Amino acid sequence: QARSSIGGNAQAAWEALREEAMSCTRCHLYRHATQTVFGEGPVSASMMFVGEQPGDQEDLAGHPFVGPAGQVFNRALAEAGITRDETYVTNAVKHFKFEPRGKRRIHAKPDAGEITACRWWIEQEQMLLRPKVTVALGATAARSLFGKAMTIGRERGRALTLPGEGGGTAWITVHPSYLLRLPDEAARESEYAKFVEDLRAAHALIA
Ligand code: URA
Repeated sequence: QARSSIGGNAQAAWEALREEAMSCTRCHLYRHATQTVFGEGPVSASMMFVGEQPGDQEDLAGHPFVGPAGQVFNRALAEAGITRDETYVTNAVKHFKFEPRGKRRIHAKPDAGEITACRWWIEQEQMLLRPKVTVALGATAARSLFGKAMTIGRERGRALTLPGEGGGTAWITVHPSYLLRLPDEAARESEYAKFVEDLRAAHALIA
């Protein structure tokens, strides 16, 4: 069925899905996180971006990619000529996983079990949106989308076919936090430029 003819239904279905996700207990991460951070963007978006999991700021705000990684991501999107209304942004894992250290909450990587438990949501998001292109930001997103470990270095830079219904084409690139963690400024700049090029190339696939 063409996406345009189910647009209204897809929106309502997405809202119901989001509502349901707010009380998700599919894994233990809901116990300590503030709230579920669900995907955001128009259901008509042709591009879906998948991050790892909400960070500290996203957990508090309830929106994906609003913290430091989100700033880098937004800048790169704009530089790649991609507008927000073409994009739906979500995460492989929808609750913040962290270790408390004093007053701070330190990001902890989601494990394979948590990624698998949360795949249910991303599969529903894929089926509702049926994006032409899905961009995996980093290894956790790639693992979630492909259902197995993927090596970014090997899979980056070419169109891949996603498994399953509603999948479409995938593009794997680095996570914006990786760029923030690079200690060397020259490396940071060249890796950022490569990231923007990846986004531009993925965007060209929807044309
Ligand atoms: N990092 C992610 O992977 N997702 C977010 O929403 C924020 C930071």
